[in-house]
Amino acid sequence: MPRSDRPNTHPNHNRQKNPTSTRPKKARGDHRARQPAHEYVLEALPGLEGVAAEELRTVPLARDIRGLRFWYPGDPERLTRLRGAVAAFRIRAWDVPRPRGLLGHQQLGELTDFLAGVARQGGHRSFRLAAAGKESSVMQRLAEELQRSLNLPFDAEEGELLIRLRPQEDGPGWEVLARLTPRPLSARTWRVCNRGGGLNATIAYALHRLAGQREEDRIFNPMSGSGTLLVERALLGPYDAMVGVDTDAEAVACARANLQAAGREVEVAQVDALHTGLPDRSFDLIVSDLPWGDAIGTHGGNAALYPAFLQEMHRLLSRQGRLVVLTHELRLFERLLAGQSRWHAHELFQVYSGGHHPKAYLLGKR
Ligand SMILES: C[S@@+](CC[C@H](N)C(=O)[O-])C[C@H]1O[C@@H](n2cnc3c(N)ncnc32)[C@H](O)[C@@H]1O
Repeated sequence: MPRSDRPNTHPNHNRQKNPTSTRPKKARGDHRARQPAHEYVLEALPGLEGVAAEELRTVPLARDIRGLRFWYPGDPERLTRLRGAVAAFRIRAWDVPRPRGLLGHQQLGELTDFLAGVARQGGHRSFRLAAAGKESSVMQRLAEELQRSLNLPFDAEEGELLIRLRPQEDGPGWEVLARLTPRPLSARTWRVCNRGGGLNATIAYALHRLAGQREEDRIFNPMSGSGTLLVERALLGPYDAMVGVDTDAEAVACARANLQAAGREVEVAQVDALHTGLPDRSFDLIVSDLPWGDAIGTHGGNAALYPAFLQEMHRLLSRQGRLVVLTHELRLFERLLAGQSRWHAHELFQVYSGGHHPKAYLLGKR
């Protein structure tokens, strides 16, 4: 390709000038004025619980952490900024043997206060219930009562305040979970453009966390689609250079729109990842979400694409570089790995998301 069309990987070209300067400024309360501690629980995509738990350990004041459950006296807004979990819930237990017990005068008053506190902070405009037997007459009555006491409309499908009821894990009662945010945490505010095959942002976050973040990394995201991996890396902190490519002009425009909404400058070019014309060893980290052969690409096409991809990425990667591959073409990819000797590879995770169960691998050059 002509030199002027090549993605620029010069170290200073895409350096973030000030990685924190464009973050939207939010009014912060005085954190010395502690609020009462509440119990919370995070929900992660199955397979990413460890990533969410590690991020939780970075939350100041989170204490008594058991898996993804913890006590926290701080501003819940901090929990809505977690990136490895799909949801954060405030949780409270009632000493009742069945959900019917929540309809008692005292319990209903306490439940209303609990839920109204979450809705006030989260700005939810409707609610829904999620529980085994949610069609039962007890649940219907609960929905009616809460509609009145919370003064919020009940919307069984789209209700913003997601309320889960379940038997207590470590006691005889029932616990109620209220999601802090009207939408899942994985629905990022930067996503102004969506495309079929777009990656769940918490998976992108997990890939970067497990690949390791280094300020000196020159990063390549071949087949960048809507730019999920680019945005999530750009938000994580400094790097030396980063570039994404995709053959599809609409994907390139989509990634650019998302990056702009995130307030990050990253070059995205309409270029074939297998023919970038870039010099050998241009990158220290290559992060890829390859076509899975369903929404994007075909299984037949992938049989030719994947080996060519591995060969070209070997050329573009520095000697100690890391190649991260996320794919749902498990048999094809594992067969390719087994039949070659230029890469060492290990599995990072397998995640369950949207009916798929892709695996992530970390490869290095032998
Ligand atoms: C699975 S999608 C990537 C989705 C992306 N992670 C996201 O979050 O939107 C794969 C992308 O690879 C692109 N693609 C396929 N073959 C390519 C090639 N040879 N070079 C560059 N991009 C390619 C497709 O246009 C598609 O956008």
